Amino acid sequence: MVTGGAGFLGSHLCTRLIADKRDVLCIDNLFTGSRNNIRALLESPYFEFQRHDVTFPLYVEVAQIYNLACPASPVHYQHDPVQTTKTSVHGAINMLGLAKRVKARILQASTSEVYGDPAVHPQTESYWGNVNPIGIRACYDEGKRCAETLFFDYHRQHALDIKVVRIFNTYGPRMHPNDGRVVSNFIVQALRGADITIFGDGQQTRSFCYVDDLVEAMVRMMATDRDFPGPVNIGNPGEYTMLQLAETVLRMTKSRARLVHKPLPSDDPKQRCPDITLARERLNWQPKVGLEDGLEPTIAYFRELLAA
Ligand SMILES: NC(=O)c1ccc[n+]([C@@H]2O[C@H](COP(=O)([O-])OP(=O)(O)OC[C@H]3O[C@@H](n4cnc5c(N)ncnc54)[C@H](O)[C@@H]3O)[C@@H](O)[C@H]2O)c1
Repeated sequence: MVTGGAGFLGSHLCTRLIADKRDVLCIDNLFTGSRNNIRALLESPYFEFQRHDVTFPLYVEVAQIYNLACPASPVHYQHDPVQTTKTSVHGAINMLGLAKRVKARILQASTSEVYGDPAVHPQTESYWGNVNPIGIRACYDEGKRCAETLFFDYHRQHALDIKVVRIFNTYGPRMHPNDGRVVSNFIVQALRGADITIFGDGQQTRSFCYVDDLVEAMVRMMATDRDFPGPVNIGNPGEYTMLQLAETVLRMTKSRARLVHKPLPSDDPKQRCPDITLARERLNWQPKVGLEDGLEPTIAYFRELLAA
């Protein structure tokens, strides 16, 4: 079962699991996900879609649960912040309850946002984070932190078989065109020939993981021994400044768009970079897709989307 399976990452994960000949139950309330993301899968005898909101209990028989349901970009998670916390926290409780009932292994899609605006670089899993609990990002950051707490308490208290991955910025086809995330923003602005918005001086850095690499890591994490619950960082440690990313996108799209600077949003982290030593050791995994190789299919996807 994949919750949030009609979203960006979830739909790629469903596709991968079906390619592995797994029976997939996709659960989604279509808040930010869409049928288009899973349309190609609906024909498959291995695939089933159920519209459901994870803040309500679910009664199904499954062997493994990937819990991805949650709006992931600030535009979407700040749209209804109370619902975002409910999705993270009530969603986790409901899915953990289901996992306990049917003795399923359950993987949580956590996030680098649990590190907040980190005081150490790069972040290892042992870093506890620097999160503003009352800021506008807290509904997501603290929701995800509380979900991790619940996962580890179910693990300690009920011996539940859990896996927690902390996902860093991931990009690829099927990202939302208007969700304010930097890769999709820059590509859409470049393709439209609109101004490219750089927040602050553009020297803040991010790391970008291509979606296929991320999905491979999640599948590997799900297959690890029971004694390894995580958390484990998944991301691409290559760091780029926003200016570097913008210039790469401009060159690859052959766009004449201009760069314009705007003030930094509140609580925006200055730097975020994963330390993936643990993933290398325990999952025998590291990202394979370089930035330009991943941007190519992503740009092609948005080109088609904007032309439609
Ligand atoms: N994309 C990234 O870079 C990134 C980074 C860190 C963590 N994550 C995590 O990965 C997961 C997937 O992110 P994404 O980028 O694919 O985002 P997304 O918005 O494309 O996918 C989230 C999916 O969850 C569904 N959803 C939201 N609330 C729901 C609810 N109450 N009940 C059922 N379904 C619900 C949405 O409709 C959507 O299909 C999220 O949990 C997110 O926090 C993503």
